[in-house]
Amino acid sequence: MEWDRIRKRPEDYVGANLLGYDECAKTFSWTQARGLLDGLPGGGLNIAHEAIDRHLKAGRGNKLALRWIARDDSKRDFTYAALGAAVNRFANVLAQRGIRKGDRVFSLLGRVPELYIAALGTLKNGSVFSPLFSAFGPEPIKARMMIGDARALITTEAFYRRKIEPWRKELASLKHVFLTECSSSLLPDTIDLAAALAQAPDLFETVRTAPEDMALLHFTSGTTGKPKGAVHVHEAVVAHNITGKLALDFHPDDIFWCTADPGWITGTSYGIISPLTNGVTMIIDQAEFDAERWYRILQDQKVTVWYTAPTAIRMLMKVGADIAKRFDLSKLRLMSSVGEPLNPEAVVWSVEAFGKPFHDNWWQTETGGIMITNFLSMDVKPGSMGRPLPGIAAGIVEHIEGGDVREITKPMAMGELALRPGWPSMMRAYLNEEQRYRKCFVSGWYLTGDLAMRDSEGYYWFVGRSDDVIKSAGHLIGPFEVESALMEHKAVAEAGVIGIPEPTAGEVVKAYVALKDGFEPSEALRKELLGHARQRLGPAVAPKDIAFRQNLPKTRSGKIMRRLLKARELGLPEGDISTLESEER
Ligand code: WT7
Repeated sequence: MEWDRIRKRPEDYVGANLLGYDECAKTFSWTQARGLLDGLPGGGLNIAHEAIDRHLKAGRGNKLALRWIARDDSKRDFTYAALGAAVNRFANVLAQRGIRKGDRVFSLLGRVPELYIAALGTLKNGSVFSPLFSAFGPEPIKARMMIGDARALITTEAFYRRKIEPWRKELASLKHVFLTECSSSLLPDTIDLAAALAQAPDLFETVRTAPEDMALLHFTSGTTGKPKGAVHVHEAVVAHNITGKLALDFHPDDIFWCTADPGWITGTSYGIISPLTNGVTMIIDQAEFDAERWYRILQDQKVTVWYTAPTAIRMLMKVGADIAKRFDLSKLRLMSSVGEPLNPEAVVWSVEAFGKPFHDNWWQTETGGIMITNFLSMDVKPGSMGRPLPGIAAGIVEHIEGGDVREITKPMAMGELALRPGWPSMMRAYLNEEQRYRKCFVSGWYLTGDLAMRDSEGYYWFVGRSDDVIKSAGHLIGPFEVESALMEHKAVAEAGVIGIPEPTAGEVVKAYVALKDGFEPSEALRKELLGHARQRLGPAVAPKDIAFRQNLPKTRSGKIMRRLLKARELGLPEGDISTLESEER
């Protein structure tokens, strides 16, 4: 087999939605894509309407929308009609309590049906949905809910006790806390969600949202400062819908499994909205990764389209292709991967294990939907992220004097990956951070912060990030947030946090700490700091390792030089250290 190219034969893509890339890209129009959806009377648009009510109106209510597989393997099925009724109840629960259009509703839940119902019910009520990852500790949760001005929260009683109650009083805007999995004696100032849903009517008229009304708030991490709340509007559904057709090749009979958690944007754009607007059946697994369990789900649920992430694929590789071959995966027709670099070996391995390749694709919290992908009908080049979606203009740019950028068209020249703004699911703001938002746009481009190259056939190749943000197991982690949590400990004078390469997770978080006078490095203190960070930040964000240093390398202006920490950790050249303040080491 060729390593540099996996050739597609016509029988590999019979009936694909995208055939003839160049023609499709040329004739594509967002207005036409918008025409595939209903809209609300008077020019309104609402994501939940497009995801559910449109199908009910068209007589597709009995179609299975969602099959939920619980950790213990029990299952719950929701047809579009049943999901719609539950969503309406939830919308009524919000409306009855005066939660209105534009109000921020947060969720902190595992992958349980309530999460999906809350997301859609919130949108139907015209409120803004903001999902949090359930493996976050109290600090990241508090920071995000403060920035987002949370008015309501849906979470479990256990999460509430551990992660919210200790600081709840500091957030005056948070008026309503709905709890699932409650014990019989309800905690003060909380509402039993199941009881509230049971008494709410299952009819609800969609609140008339305009296309540019805020719908979703997804937090993402930067190099410095607080997390950024990327604002997405109802119009984004136009992109969610069409990219599902073109990149994931959704057809009405598909059974789709997106393994991403809705605490991150992949799990909402493609774990809720896109499959539902496309009317497919989606599988949700409550449990965490387990190779045998995953193969069993693919087989038993007859999954046809599977969307997962490189960390999971690398874990499957570890257990070997033979296990995959024990299962009947003949229904699987498209496998897609996103979130971090997918090693070429993983693509080649997937052909061995499944008889077909993973299709890598690229996008970000800011872009709201898939921007670059390996299409079903096109050859896959292992290691490449593929080509831009129709309607998306991408380029490689270099920074020039005066703060501008210009496009580099030479094949395989490295530069920053940039996109021409204007597609429907582009973020409309970083909430209350005009400055940080504006900085993303230069010379008519949106700058992604990723370094990449484009080959002569228009395929894009990921090179790395241009900043210090860490990608661990597909999750974006802001070093500043981790450093801040460490600094709260009484022994810590300074902290510098970097990602170090690790074969399965891509990167893992490592912290360097300088201690205050009166504290001495010791194994006990190291363990204490690891525990402190884990308790504040949660296991998904906390460092896996901490090293003590007398001093951390800093610029003359006092900024910790994470790049230098990394170069030293990895034994790489130290690069330009002209701004380094003298260090006593
Ligand atoms: C960053 C965005 C994908 C949406 C959910 C994550 C990295 C994403 C790839 C890929 C290499 C990738 C980039 C990007 N990334 N996809 N196929 N190959 N890197 O969104 O958390 O905002 O992360 O993930 O660095 O900028 P996110």
